Amino acid sequence: MGYVGPGVVERLRATYPDAELLGYDTAYFASCLTHVSYLPERKLDHQLFGDIRDIPDEVLAGTDAIVNLAAISNDPMGNKFESVTLNINHESGIELAKRAKAAGVKSFVFASSCSMYGAASDAPKTEDSTLNPLTAYARSKVFTERDLKPLADSNFKVTCLRFATACGMSPRLRLDLVLNDFVACALASKNITILSDGTPWRPLINVKDMAVAIDWAIGREASNGGDFLAVNTGSTSWNYQVKDLAEAVASVIPGVSVAINTDAPPDKRSYRVDFSLYEKLAPNHQPQYDLVTTIKELKEGLEAMNFSDSDFRNSKLMRLKVLTGLQESRQLDDNLAWR
Ligand SMILES: NC(=O)c1ccc[n+]([C@@H]2O[C@H](COP(=O)([O-])OP(=O)(O)OC[C@H]3O[C@@H](n4cnc5c(N)ncnc54)[C@H](O)[C@@H]3O)[C@@H](O)[C@H]2O)c1
Repeated sequence: MGYVGPGVVERLRATYPDAELLGYDTAYFASCLTHVSYLPERKLDHQLFGDIRDIPDEVLAGTDAIVNLAAISNDPMGNKFESVTLNINHESGIELAKRAKAAGVKSFVFASSCSMYGAASDAPKTEDSTLNPLTAYARSKVFTERDLKPLADSNFKVTCLRFATACGMSPRLRLDLVLNDFVACALASKNITILSDGTPWRPLINVKDMAVAIDWAIGREASNGGDFLAVNTGSTSWNYQVKDLAEAVASVIPGVSVAINTDAPPDKRSYRVDFSLYEKLAPNHQPQYDLVTTIKELKEGLEAMNFSDSDFRNSKLMRLKVLTGLQESRQLDDNLAWR
């Protein structure tokens, strides 16, 4: 029930029309539906509500494949809820994998992140490059990959998809992502203010292409990548500097100015990524969306929502705002568990 999930449901329902598809989510953002008048989860056979920290055995029994998307899923949330982030993303993710393996699950797909490369030189990062996680969120991904590796074997195939930064339209849209933020700024105020000096490298992937990669990972043969695989997932042609993203948005949406905050402290999270391994292993599941198509798609989606809120960085389209709001209204406790 997150930003990425609806595309995954759509894709897996198409690939496996007869499979039993089950969703499990604690539903932090369940009310954050955007432009659609239907529930994306309707294509599942079951949507269960529960916490990954406490999954009942019945959920795992008889399951062939698990896609673990459940996470405190960005740096601002990870900074505010550091120990909870490590607990949900890392410890609970590993516990889930151990129990999944014991229950006979054959394929485990983990939504990892290229943010684990952290601050890097201009040379593109390969899967063998040194990891340099700069935030609790990125560390949670590093630790999870490290501890998933020894669990993998010929009966339990593990794929860690190190995704580029997500972007694009989703029925559960988020605006706390760089490209989505720029398109929202352009529409709401005709002005994009870059919250850094614009030089960081930031590879991107459309959420629907993430779903394609997840579909590939579930079904891949172990002979294609091994029992354990960690692979950069995105496209080499989608390595951009943040200022190029802003300029691309301004070229699609007329009358938009771009301001670079020259006083901003340098954003150390900068990395170019080499996606050639994914290209080699998954030639038929390569990203199809390009930058301009994604900007147009976001523009149309936001317009369909009658979006015009120039104060959107304080709205429920920002995940940190949703979580802190639920805490302030005493719905969630300090550990982000429902009261
Ligand atoms: N969006 C990106 O740029 C990006 C890039 C790389 C990797 N990823 C990873 O992909 C996955 C999905 O990302 P997203 O953008 O859809 O995030 P999201 O925050 O929109 O969705 C995450 C979902 O996980 C659920 N969740 C969180 N904690 C839970 C818990 N304790 N128990 C059960 N459910 C819980 C939330 O309710 C939410 O529906 C995450 O693991 C994220 O780290 C995302």
